[in-house]
Amino acid sequence: MPAVFSPALLRAEYPILAEDLAPGVPLHYLDNGATGQMPRAVLDSVIAHETRSRANVKRSVHTLAERATNAYDAARDAVADYLNVDARDLVLTPGCTMAINLVAHSYGSLLSEGDGIAVSTLEHHANMVPWQMLAARRGLRLVPLPMTPDGRLDMAALPGLLDGVKLVAVTHASNVTGAITPVAAVAALAHAAGAVVLVDGAQMAPHGPVDVPALGCDFYALSGHKLGAPNGIGALWGRRDLLAAMPPFLGGGEMIRSVRFEASTYARPPQRFEAGTPPIGPAVGLGAACRFHAAIDHAAANAHLMDLTGRLIDGLKARCGNRLRLIGPDDLAERLPLVSFIVEGTHPHDICQILDRRGVALRGGHHCAQVLHEAFGVAGSARASLAAFNDRGDIDACLAGIEDAMKVLLP
Ligand SMILES: Cc1ncc(COP(=O)(O)O)c(C=O)c1O
Repeated sequence: MPAVFSPALLRAEYPILAEDLAPGVPLHYLDNGATGQMPRAVLDSVIAHETRSRANVKRSVHTLAERATNAYDAARDAVADYLNVDARDLVLTPGCTMAINLVAHSYGSLLSEGDGIAVSTLEHHANMVPWQMLAARRGLRLVPLPMTPDGRLDMAALPGLLDGVKLVAVTHASNVTGAITPVAAVAALAHAAGAVVLVDGAQMAPHGPVDVPALGCDFYALSGHKLGAPNGIGALWGRRDLLAAMPPFLGGGEMIRSVRFEASTYARPPQRFEAGTPPIGPAVGLGAACRFHAAIDHAAANAHLMDLTGRLIDGLKARCGNRLRLIGPDDLAERLPLVSFIVEGTHPHDICQILDRRGVALRGGHHCAQVLHEAFGVAGSARASLAAFNDRGDIDACLAGIEDAMKVLLP
């Protein structure tokens, strides 16, 4: 990792960027919000683990098993450091979706009929559907938290909606509008109303270490593959007293204290919530990904990313004129480097297909946020989501592809 932030040096850390997609077609990867690319440090850590330390964890005493256990524990420590939390309160899960489902099942089982769960309308389905299912199972009220016309959580509406609410579920940053939620303010309001707060950090965590205690939330979930770790790993941090009071989500090996035929007793968190063989290799990769991202100068990276985001928005406006509709804030304050847009008279999938011919990877569709798109009165959008390794060449290739799309789709 270079000591000084440089997109060019950072690019060199990603093997996938070194290869053209097809002869003469370099990759311009602008779909980082869907899955982050894997830096060499992560690839190396997984290969080293699988070739030198492959074994199950916390079971056998042979050398490989000890190595695997140490590697798994070190991964948990690295994720905990990234979130500035104690590793004893950090559960490794098979993804962000699983982390949220864990809370919905386990913490949710402690709620009573008629209790409210407030969920923002900005949420990814991963932070909406589990709460709908919980509400249906347990007779709870699902309370929608509205957004502003430019796609931010409507903070002015919040205090009036929290009566009887026991849990507030919000995203740290929207995967569609890019808006960053003022979580500390949400947590202060929620706690005053007697509710706990779960934050979906899937989109925020790839943009640098998160000071979870400063957010004041009660649960924080993240997704490994968005940080460039292998698929099938994520994490859930929970407030110690809440985790301690929560029943297990899944049953099986390693989550128990003792098993009798009639009944079992359970281990302390985090093991209570890690039934069965965990995704050890992916966890090792997530630990390496956290160390990799922690070493980036994120203040410099963010300035670079905001420059690129501004260039992209200006370029879209110049090329699409009044056919352009941005799904999210136009100004760059408190937002992620991602741009969701619609070009009236075109379909987002068609735009993405035309861009793909130039090696530009964008995502088109509802991005697992149908409620959000419905609030904007559209079925889907095209989305460019940037990472610190992106450069002006990527943005200019995207804008050139948009010019192609305008010619082809709107002759
Ligand atoms: C905001 C948000 N939350 C949750 C998820 C789901 O994460 P995972 O794929 O780790 O289950 C995503 C993935 O797209 C996301 O963007």
